[in-house]
Amino acid sequence: VAAPYPAKDDFLSCLTRSVPPKLLFAKSSPAYGSLWSSTVRNIKFLSDKTVRPLYIITPMEPCHVQSTVACGRRHGMRLRVRSGGHDYEGLSYRSDKPEPFAVVDLSKMRQVRIDGKQATAWVDSGAQLGEIYYAVSKATPKLGFPAGVCATIGVGGHFSGGGFGMMLRKYGTAADNVIDAKVVDANGKLLDRKAMGEDYFWAIRGGGGSSFGIVVSWQIKLVPVAPTVTVFQIHRGVQDGAIDLVAKWQQIAPSLPEDLMIRIMAMGQDVLFEALYLGGCKDLVPLMNARFPELGMMQAMCNEMSWIESVPYIPLGKTGTVKDLLNRTSNIRAFGKYKSDYVRDPIPKAVWEKIFTCLIKPGAGVMIMDPYGGKISSVPEDATPFPHRQGMLFNIQYVNYWFGEGAGALPTQWSRDMYAFMEPYVTKNPRQAYVNYRDMDLGVNQVVGGVSSYASGKVWGEKYFKGNFERLARIKAKVDPEDYFRNEQSIPPLFKY
Ligand code: FDA
Repeated sequence: VAAPYPAKDDFLSCLTRSVPPKLLFAKSSPAYGSLWSSTVRNIKFLSDKTVRPLYIITPMEPCHVQSTVACGRRHGMRLRVRSGGHDYEGLSYRSDKPEPFAVVDLSKMRQVRIDGKQATAWVDSGAQLGEIYYAVSKATPKLGFPAGVCATIGVGGHFSGGGFGMMLRKYGTAADNVIDAKVVDANGKLLDRKAMGEDYFWAIRGGGGSSFGIVVSWQIKLVPVAPTVTVFQIHRGVQDGAIDLVAKWQQIAPSLPEDLMIRIMAMGQDVLFEALYLGGCKDLVPLMNARFPELGMMQAMCNEMSWIESVPYIPLGKTGTVKDLLNRTSNIRAFGKYKSDYVRDPIPKAVWEKIFTCLIKPGAGVMIMDPYGGKISSVPEDATPFPHRQGMLFNIQYVNYWFGEGAGALPTQWSRDMYAFMEPYVTKNPRQAYVNYRDMDLGVNQVVGGVSSYASGKVWGEKYFKGNFERLARIKAKVDPEDYFRNEQSIPPLFKY
């Protein structure tokens, strides 16, 4: 006998059959608003105009993620996945155009399991980088991990795009140090490296988040760190010859021994030279005197500490403590616009002079420059999707931020003008950019015939991935031919051979 009323069958009722209801949040749930905004790191997307998800699912186990994908496929509900929410364009929790979608928020899946003997760890995507650094050094202070500088960054997005920090010259990107992973694919299957195969495994280590499924955890190779490291932070003004120093830095920093990373932050007429040396002051001072005497680095400027102490010290200075690495509440209160470039040939001094004039224009932001060379540059360009390798001198990140809605016009314009000004001095054909510094000005996908078109993806995709973009698109066609996992800058499927 047929039931008088058909059982309700929609996305939410499908989910409630396999995911505990306390992990599901509809727009009408009282906790929805605070949960959605909990890791919105670019405050401009807190606006009422932002297209928000219909549902948020907070899985606690891989099987919850599998059920969410299965129900999403059955009921035509697209998913976006959020680990740490640091995406500069907010693509993990908002859609640029109105469309129904749900967010899989991995913040409840954040275990870090260390195997000190093997020097490996399994880390869940919802962990933040600070939680890895903390757990690794608690287990064994001789080990560390090379990833980003800001402790609240989520593992899921960061590893998916490469991920680099102060040890990039010694150990490469975070993704270079991933040795296995568990991913829920577009069919809701949970696959490890063996089951997914080497092409799929290649794609998830740097091909950008959200295109190939939901990575729930990663196995990483931990790296040895010296018992004592040294940090210095030296400010130089344009009036004290900072432009000469920057012009020299770009030639020296990429060829220094790989234990030494000196990055630059240029803001207004001030330049901060910030360094991490994987060793003690007594070796660093003669090295600096021999290779970069113009900077005037002296013993009194050395801050010796353990590697784990250097991790909060770099972004927070003397006030940063190791316990801060576990703090999941971010203090970012800024609206932001971010762009990136890569430099292969030294920029002439006369151009640096012009750059510093741009840095005092109305709405000017900050230029953060990370030198390459060493390990990050020695990995072959096609070994992972992250292609910015041999011969690259440095990466530039143009960071611009403002406070208060409506104050963004000048800073946004400055970023675009600065980017236009820099064109002759940076990489060309393609003009390379770092996928983890997401920038939708580079282009967005067009959906044609139900899938993101390869032609539209190529516009932004070759900037992030160079020749690796085509291989990524072919892998996408194999693992997600219907383009279920998609967003404005996801890898489109390429079917033709
Ligand atoms: P978020 O959750 O927003 O995800 C980013 C993208 O990955 C989205 O498309 C999302 O859908 C996808 N994704 C997330 N989890 C996934 C999963 N489990 N499986 C599949 N796809 C997934 N970068 C760097 O290299 N070095 C640095 O030092 C810094 N510093 C820094 C500081 C600050 C304050 C910010 C805001 C950002 C950075 N970044 C950075 C950039 C950062 O690496 C980048 O934004 C990462 O993608 C963030 O990862 P989250 O998981 O936090 O982001």
